[in-house]
Amino acid sequence: MDMLELIDRSKLPKHVAIIMDGNGRWAKERGQDRVYGHHEGVVSVREIVNTSAEIGIQYLTLYAFSAENWNRPKAEVDALMELLVNTIRKEIEELKKNNVRLHIIGDFASLPEICQKELNEAMQMTASNTGLNLILALSYSSRQEIVFAAKKIAEKVALGELKPEEINYEVFENSLYTAGFPDPELMIRTSGEYRISNYLLYQLAYAELYFTNVHWPDFRKNNLYEALLNYQQRERRFGKTSEQIQTTPHQHV
Ligand code: IPE
Ligand code: IPE
Ligand code: MG
Repeated sequence: MDMLELIDRSKLPKHVAIIMDGNGRWAKERGQDRVYGHHEGVVSVREIVNTSAEIGIQYLTLYAFSAENWNRPKAEVDALMELLVNTIRKEIEELKKNNVRLHIIGDFASLPEICQKELNEAMQMTASNTGLNLILALSYSSRQEIVFAAKKIAEKVALGELKPEEINYEVFENSLYTAGFPDPELMIRTSGEYRISNYLLYQLAYAELYFTNVHWPDFRKNNLYEALLNYQQRERRFGKTSEQIQTTPHQHV
């Protein structure tokens, strides 16, 4: 049976976040340069974006470049930035056709100007799309995001626009890069590493975590279906007991 038929469409996560890891190792295993792995990773991005849009996932966040990734060898960083520009240029028509809206989270200003320009254009061109929200995490650090949020809130308090006692989850969440997006219910990391690597630390508080040994350039439709099926077999308890959850099956925090 096709794995897709096993997925309960009424219980899809609204938001899936992915750490696309293993491009370098995938290339090395083939005796190639790491950059070859990044290029092949784009094929997976295309398939996973299209599949997510097709099955009705509303938000897909992809970790494409971390703030810490700036510390890689310059040749690799340059190749990644070039790949980003070329990919956006190439894929924009496909995004439009599939009704995908592009968003960016991260330290946008730290990206090369050409990337900023290309991304701004792509965001504008897809702004009225109503299907999948594709969120690219670029030059992203979750700790930085949290510190920036604290700063923004402190400034409002200093200006008398906000009282300390008015600070709550909602105020805090509205100060994060992800303001307006629901929290991911499912976080997938490829390539066999069991860590979060400074990704969505606040937002993943109650996410289900799914790890696979598959390297990102090999990650395809069926791997996503497998992750979704696994997610649907889990019991999300949010601190409650299993008995409570079974009597109120669709309760969320
Ligand atoms: C993920 O693959 C892509 C980026 C971090 C840009 P890696 O480049 O981290 O690949 P590995 O983990 O070294 O194999
Ligand atoms: C996390 O992967 C960042 C991206 C996938 C873009 P890394 O490969 O940079 O993470 P670490 O260094 O193994 O934790
Ligand atoms: Mg890696």
